[in-house]
This record gives sequence, structure tokens and C-alpha cells, in this order.
Amino acid sequence: MDAVTPPGAGHEAAFRAPIAHIRDYEPGADAEQVAAATGIPFEDVVKLASNENPYPVSPSVLRAIERQFDFLHSYPWEDFGRLKAAVAAANGVPDANVVLSAGSAQLVLNLPLLYVDPGDEVVLAPQSYALYEAASQVMGATLRRVPLKDYRFDIPAIVAACGPRTRIVWLCSPNNPTGAVVTADELERLVTQVPETTAIVVDQAYREFVDEDDYGDPLALLAAGHRNVISLCSFSKAYALAGLRLGYAIADPAVCVMLDRISEPFLLSRPACAAGLAALDDDEWLAASTRTVLEGRALLTRELTALGWDVVPSQGNFVLADTHGDGRALFRRLLDEGVIVRPADGWGYPTHIRVSVGLPEQNERFLAALRRCL
Ligand SMILES: Cc1ncc(COP(=O)(O)O)c(C=O)c1O
Repeated sequence: MDAVTPPGAGHEAAFRAPIAHIRDYEPGADAEQVAAATGIPFEDVVKLASNENPYPVSPSVLRAIERQFDFLHSYPWEDFGRLKAAVAAANGVPDANVVLSAGSAQLVLNLPLLYVDPGDEVVLAPQSYALYEAASQVMGATLRRVPLKDYRFDIPAIVAACGPRTRIVWLCSPNNPTGAVVTADELERLVTQVPETTAIVVDQAYREFVDEDDYGDPLALLAAGHRNVISLCSFSKAYALAGLRLGYAIADPAVCVMLDRISEPFLLSRPACAAGLAALDDDEWLAASTRTVLEGRALLTRELTALGWDVVPSQGNFVLADTHGDGRALFRRLLDEGVIVRPADGWGYPTHIRVSVGLPEQNERFLAALRRCL
């Protein structure tokens, strides 16, 4: 008997059809596997593939986590409230506008539970964070895919794609993988042209790295009374806490009540709550880390452009570059050098690679390996 039963037969027949058809998430290559395959020591492998921030975590955050070791037997209820208040204060909104989550990705998964019935529509770009598509498909959404134009969300085409059954428009600003933002004008145009029954989700996981004046701020639109605007934020990128899983949404209080209703009540661990509180209290660390990322972004942009590549101007902690060659082949050659980047063919960019900004020495090691590969 086969170990694996084909779909549609045996126990697999019980799986809901929309889920059976979802593409599996392809994470960045694993540094331990690359070390084992190449013989390069693990500590010398440079991973610039998952838009992580390798800047050393704030010492005050580490101390806050350590203080929680004595309390691991108890649920983190009161810490949850304290973190919610701190997040609200940091964003200039009342506590009722905040939903905490174990990473913003969990909110991406929960939003379709709130909005989408089978056959409802969502509008998204195929060249964006892949989880929007999978999360929507879980609920049986019909996907309206609006391709990016010149690496940017095509707002007029998105407005045109919205219909009476559109429940969510997924935006990502800065967009992963292109690094482009939705401008203030564009966001306002979109929000004023779609019905109030369409949620406009703006994933701002990379917002702390934005230095463009024209950045569209969903919180301003929310404050102006657009109750369908939802911002998703993360501690994984600017705060370098991807391993702790900490994120949040800023939304209308009615949306927050609903999102909390479908969330596990003790979703965040005590160490994560404590880390979030300490991280929000360490502005100096955030400024230093962000400065390092922006310097690295400028360096990578400059050096890759000097190779004759087309580098998409990025507002994130990563750059997408058109190598004018086979991006996946270059990704493989770099793996042999112990450097992990992201091939971009999955987003429909077969000649591009996406490189996360690392520490200065990691950026230099990537550039040196790249020169050897070319
Ligand atoms: C655009 C975008 N949103 C959300 C996430 C997930 O972030 P978190 O770690 O907060 O779940 C990522 C992770 O890479 C991302 O690129």
C-alpha cells in the first residue's frame, strides 16, 4: 500500500478543497543546511533571504525577557494589557484601536476569517507577500489578481477590480519584494473610491525603514473616519524580534473587537509581551538599528547598480534587483559561497534576486561572493 494516499481518496477526501489547492510557503533557504552542504562553518554563512534584521537585539529587551523566567508558569494576561497600551501610545491611538498578535502574519490569516465567505472576492497583487493569497484561499475567496505596474501597486486597476463582493484589498507598503510604497495620494484615492464594506489592509511590516516623504499613512485615514482601513505592523523587522513572534493591527474599534474574538486569548507569550514593552521604550536602539539598515540599503543599491543591474528603489530592509541573467542560477552559485539570497522567480521575476540588508560585514561578504560568482 502507498504511504501517501492521492488527494481525493482516503482521509484526504475530508480536507476542504480550497486548502488542498494552496501553494506551500517557500521559506528562505536554511543556514544550517547550507553550512552542512558546503562545509562552510555555520557562523560564516550569510543569510540575507528572509528580510530579518541581524542587528543585535537591544540589551534592555534581553533583560526584560530574562526577568520573565520566574513567571513562565502563569498566563500573560496583565502583560497583554500593558503592551496594548504601549503600542497604542506609540501609534497615537486609543487602546481600543489595537489588536496584538503573535507576528503580523497571524493577523493576515485571521482577517479573511472575519471578512470572507466562499465566493467573496479579494484584490491582491501577485508580486507581493504570498500569505495574502493563501489566507484568502483558506476561506474560499475568489482572487482578483492585479499585477504591479513598474514594481508598484496599480491603484487605478485595483479600484477597477473592486466589485460589490470585494471584501479585502491587500496592500503592502513598503511592498515585499519590490520595496515600493503606496503614496499618500494613492492611498487616499483608493480609500475614497471603494465601498466602506471593503477592508483596505495596509501591511506596514517594513514601515520603520521608510524615509520617503510621500508615504501613505493608513492611520491618518483611519483617524479621518475611514473605518475600513486596517494597518498591520510588526516587531520582526525594525525591532529585530522575528524569533519572538510579535505584531499588531491598528484598526477601527469594531474591527479590533472582532479580531480579538477570533484570536486565541493568550496568543502572546510573557517573554514576547515583555520584549515588546522594552523595545518600544528604547528609541535610541531603534534609531541606531534603522540607521544601519538604511546605510546598508544605500550601499547595496549603489554596488548592485554599479554592476549594470537595475535595482528597484527600496523603502524596506531589502532590495530587489534585475540581474539581467538567471536569478535562480545565481542564487544557487551564491549558496555554494555560503551566501543565501532569495530568487524572485516565484513572484514572476525570473531574472531578479531579492537581498535583505545585513550587518555591514555581511553586506560586504555578499558583495565579495557576488563578484566571485559573476
Ligand atoms: C510584508 C510582510 N508582512 C508580514 C510579514 C510577517 O511578519 P511577522 O513576523 O510580523 O509575522 C512579513 C515577513 O517577512 C512580510 O514580508
